[in-house]
Amino acid sequence: MNQPLPFSQASENNKQVILDVLKCYLKSGDKVLEIASGTGQHAVFIAENMPELHWQSSDISSNVESLNLRISAAQLENLPAAIPLDVNQEHWPCDVPNSIFSANSLHIMSADSVENFFAGVCNHLKEGHLLVYGPFKYGGNFTSESNAGFDLWLKDRNPESGIRDFEWVDGLTKRCGFQLTEDHVMPANNQLLVWNRESSR
Ligand SMILES: C[S@@+](CC[C@H](N)C(=O)[O-])C[C@H]1O[C@@H](n2cnc3c(N)ncnc32)[C@H](O)[C@@H]1O
Repeated sequence: MNQPLPFSQASENNKQVILDVLKCYLKSGDKVLEIASGTGQHAVFIAENMPELHWQSSDISSNVESLNLRISAAQLENLPAAIPLDVNQEHWPCDVPNSIFSANSLHIMSADSVENFFAGVCNHLKEGHLLVYGPFKYGGNFTSESNAGFDLWLKDRNPESGIRDFEWVDGLTKRCGFQLTEDHVMPANNQLLVWNRESSR
């Protein structure tokens, strides 16, 4: 019997607008590493619509089996099986990517894990784009009442979760020479932040 595929309504709602922005930054032949792929809906949708990309999805090991149900059902040549990757691992078990993408992950993981996320990006993405989708605070303020409520809900579920300050995460990228290219305002009070790192060679 076929197992049901993991599903998130939010991913279904935001996958087209995310793809539209990614198309401005990703180019043919790019190897993209996705961190915290969740249900795999973004991975499948983007890999289907950008067949010239190589898309490597990943998540913590406890989520990889369910994620791979969707990845293997899609049977896309440019979308191999997801790999287990926890941002807290010192070495990320992946090929060197040209770009890294992650959606709705920084407000779920702890602040220490967010620091490790950016340390890992610094170690593994020597040149290229970092694209991060999700809600952020600016100057300590939420961008909407609903994000303030969402933050309370997150913290009630796990006190280590929470919507992150844009200035803090931007500072973490600057430690290894990333520059903010664009802060795209997205529907439903989200942002798609794009940083770029140029080769120091
Ligand atoms: C809200 S879901 C987002 C999933 C998907 N990117 C999306 O937008 O629908 C958060 C994801 O973060 C992952 N995650 C949590 N802690 C992590 C860690 N330390 N390293 C990597 N992924 C992590 C979870 O397993 C989960 O898939």
